[in-house]
Amino acid sequence: MHSTRDERVILEATDVWRTYTRGDETIHALAGMSLTVRAGEMVGIVGRSGSGKTTFLNQVGCLDKPTRGSLKIVGHEVTCLDEKRLVEFRRDHVGFIFQLFYLIPTLTVWENVELPLIFAKRRDTDRVMEMIRKVGLEKNANALPGQLNGGDMQRVAIARALINQPKLLLADEPTGRLEHESRDAIMELFRRLQGEGLAIVIATHDLGLAQQTEGVVELKDGRIVQDRHENPARAWEQPREAGG
Ligand SMILES: Nc1ncnc2c1ncn2[C@@H]1O[C@H](COP(=O)(O)OP(=O)(O)OP(=O)(O)O)[C@@H](O)[C@H]1O
Ligand SMILES: [Mg+2]
Repeated sequence: MHSTRDERVILEATDVWRTYTRGDETIHALAGMSLTVRAGEMVGIVGRSGSGKTTFLNQVGCLDKPTRGSLKIVGHEVTCLDEKRLVEFRRDHVGFIFQLFYLIPTLTVWENVELPLIFAKRRDTDRVMEMIRKVGLEKNANALPGQLNGGDMQRVAIARALINQPKLLLADEPTGRLEHESRDAIMELFRRLQGEGLAIVIATHDLGLAQQTEGVVELKDGRIVQDRHENPARAWEQPREAGG
């Protein structure tokens, strides 16, 4: 009994739709979005405000459910999971970080990173230390978030997102609130994690940031209009005017 699926495929989204209704109005926030991401790949999602970036990450991150379509994460179809299984699946398989970090201000760096382990009823102080070291915060383990700069707060959030050893990291505008140097440092950290085999999806307005990923997909009205991701060799090419 063996499966023929590609073990390196971490995320496989196929024809995902998410439709909202507001009064008489129907909004297709996602309208046939498909994306495949493999282990060790970092993909940037760009697109104007309202194009569906956050909606897509929320579906993949099991924070919301698609209206239709298929979402496979590490080989599991998640669209058919009930609420309880979805929460567990998210906890064990997906790391999520946000523009505003969402750290708990009254807990130390150590305690913030440890929190998902406690929710999972696991205890592993070595793992907490390992993650704090991995993101370079060993000197700040006992600090409160408010004593850190933005870049270091995002490092705490990354350590927390990865404490349960997910294979997929989702980031929604992760550097939107950071200074230039912090932004570069966080990108470098992402690249290191990517090198260790993590699959990473970053939604961003920052084209410069997106171009540092190996693949960029552009969303418009809830679907991909430009996919340079499946053809990384062309990822750096600028679209050229004909006849010039
Ligand atoms: N809960 C909701 N109810 C109704 N419409 C929604 C809801 N969430 C998102 N939308 C709509 O879905 C579309 C996509 O929104 P989304 O937040 O995914 O875009 P985005 O690309 O992340 O934008 P931004 O760059 O501003 O973060 C928008 O038209 C938005 O108004
Ligand atoms: Mg958004």
